[in-house]
Amino acid sequence: MEWVDGHIVTIDQTTLPEITPLRLSTVDDVVDAIRRLAVRGAPLIGVTGALGVALSARLSGESGYDPERVRADAERIASARPTAVNLRWAVNQVLPHVDAGQDAVLAAALELLEADVRTNEALARRGAALLRELVGERPMSLHTHCHTGALACVAWGTALGIVRALHEDGLVRQVLADETRPLLQGARITATELAGMGVDHRVVVDGAGPGLIARGLVDVVVVGADRVAANGDVANKVGTYPLALAAARAGVPFVVAAPESTVDPATPDGAAIEIEERDDAEVLRFAGRVTTPEGSRAINPAFDVTPADLVTAVVTEKRVVRPALGERMAGE
Ligand code: MRU
Repeated sequence: MEWVDGHIVTIDQTTLPEITPLRLSTVDDVVDAIRRLAVRGAPLIGVTGALGVALSARLSGESGYDPERVRADAERIASARPTAVNLRWAVNQVLPHVDAGQDAVLAAALELLEADVRTNEALARRGAALLRELVGERPMSLHTHCHTGALACVAWGTALGIVRALHEDGLVRQVLADETRPLLQGARITATELAGMGVDHRVVVDGAGPGLIARGLVDVVVVGADRVAANGDVANKVGTYPLALAAARAGVPFVVAAPESTVDPATPDGAAIEIEERDDAEVLRFAGRVTTPEGSRAINPAFDVTPADLVTAVVTEKRVVRPALGERMAGE
């Protein structure tokens, strides 16, 4: 993700593994890209949101700078998707600079972009050390869900950043990557990044994950998060919760990797997290074809909530918290 000549330049994640450049030139472009998951992954939508406010400020500057208009655009951007708290968090980071003008907003947004790289490298290294402690100093088999790599952030990634750090030390035997229905972030994006890193990996259908864990094929489950509540409940891509149940049953550690910007002290627990409901069509069609009888409806939650007691550890760039042992992320 880059800011080039007053525009946001990135790639369209809906066409991966085919690479399609994406240029966002208006606030509508930004909102649309976030909503249709052309730009996705909690940290990346945060950075995109902040740059979106910078874009609004630049466009406003063309016709007499109007801070109120920029603030209204910022609210529209922050509301584009409800679950990943990073989006509103990042927009809130740049909002205090709006009165100071477009250069100040852009500087704040670019600082978030640069900080994301440092944050995720620190998170990846801390997470790798934690997994070495939990699993032991040996090549390990990891199970992951959705996509949490460099393309979901500015660089490195969260859970997949940990895989990268472990792989550098020769400690990854294999990664099982859930394909992640209905939009296939695991098959299309995680597998692409793992192949690029040279990591041995297998793509599995989401329904296979718990059974593979039960069969002893997995040493540790490591996933990202879209919001971590104060009590340690974790919202992540739908299909995460069954992995946590299976991991607990099998005695396998279930680790969540997320930057501090994903931790929301204002959300007391998972029940308070708004779960994004997406269009039925994502489920009722496959590869562009309708697969269900006329009149069938779907339920299409984009995320689920894993309760804190199933979460062995949450690792951020700053700390390791163990919700399953009763430790809280924030508050009493
Ligand atoms: O709907 P998506 O593709 O944006 O969902 C992404 C996830 O659930 C990721 O696990 C999460 O954002 C962590 S990204 C490092």
